[in-house]
Amino acid sequence: MADPEMTRRRSRSVRPVAALLAATLLLGGAAVLASYALGEPGRPTAAAAMTGADLRRTVEGDLARGQEVFLRDCAWCHGPEGEGTQNGPTLETSGTADADFWLRTGRMPLTAPDVDPEPGPPAYDSETIDALVGYVDTLGVGDPIPVLGPGDPTRGRTVFLVNCAACHSSSGTGVIVSGGEDAPELWDSDGTQVAEAVRIGPNEMPAFPPSQLDDQEIDDLVAYVDDLGEEQVESGLGLEQYGPIAEGFVVWLVLLPVLVLVIVLLGKRAPR
Ligand code: HEC
Ligand code: HEC
Repeated sequence: MADPEMTRRRSRSVRPVAALLAATLLLGGAAVLASYALGEPGRPTAAAAMTGADLRRTVEGDLARGQEVFLRDCAWCHGPEGEGTQNGPTLETSGTADADFWLRTGRMPLTAPDVDPEPGPPAYDSETIDALVGYVDTLGVGDPIPVLGPGDPTRGRTVFLVNCAACHSSSGTGVIVSGGEDAPELWDSDGTQVAEAVRIGPNEMPAFPPSQLDDQEIDDLVAYVDDLGEEQVESGLGLEQYGPIAEGFVVWLVLLPVLVLVIVLLGKRAPR
């Protein structure tokens, strides 16, 4: 049965295959390590688009206008001094971040006390919101609107996966329900509102104070969330979500069988 000539021939063709395989694996491993050590090749950072005065908006709202709108639209629930009523909570612990977030994401004003606040288009133009935010700021003390700086989306991805993905899902589609409440999709979220949400923790969402996430981590987070969207999910596997190591392995998983096939074919064609 075991033809010694056959066995010898097979082992002769198997040995170079094994050697090449080992070499390929070593090279692959080295390439993966190198790509990891060098860091991910520069994906365009959202930082370029986000620096500048547009996000360094300070609230210089017109206080008189703010008070007028507040007394008309908010006081019947929050009280004329923001002290709260049976229709709505006190705003004495609300800072500019709180007011800006609830107004710009369209959650406020509610139309009735028993209505659930839902995100949507804002009820006021940007100037009126600034005026209201400035006025709410005089009623209490709370987190200020975060001032964003340049962020690194690669580091932001790690922060997001650790702190946010459990509820919002890794691609920010936000399908996960928490305490009967949907964590919303984040694809269209404005950077400043993302930072505000992280600091104030609306409803079921926990607040992340500076002791938990520092300003740089928030900038990184915002840069990552800014990159989230339809394209990223639809563009095939969206490998970039899993980082350079996974990408390296996938490349070698695809390349290896091809290489092995080539080697085997070459071995078969070798003259006896
Ligand atoms: C019909 C009643 C109602 C009106 C009108 C209303 N609110 Fe509210 N507001 C609420 C309720 C109720 C909550 C708590 C919502 C929750 O936690 O789900 C709230 C929450 C808030 C919060 C967050 C407070 C916190 O502790 O986190 C802010 C800020 C706020 N409202 C601002 C305003 C402003 C500014 C206006 C006017 C433009 C306004 N609201 C109009 C009922 C109202
Ligand atoms: C425990 C679950 C949970 C975690 C963890 C969590 N969120 Fe949320 N998030 C929510 C829920 C629930 C809401 C909706 C709150 C509401 O509607 O009042 C929300 C709302 C938001 C919003 C407002 C979106 C909009 O369009 O109105 C943003 C932005 C956001 N989260 C970002 C983050 C980021 C960034 C992190 C990580 C640092 C994070 N969240 C962690 C549950 C969570």
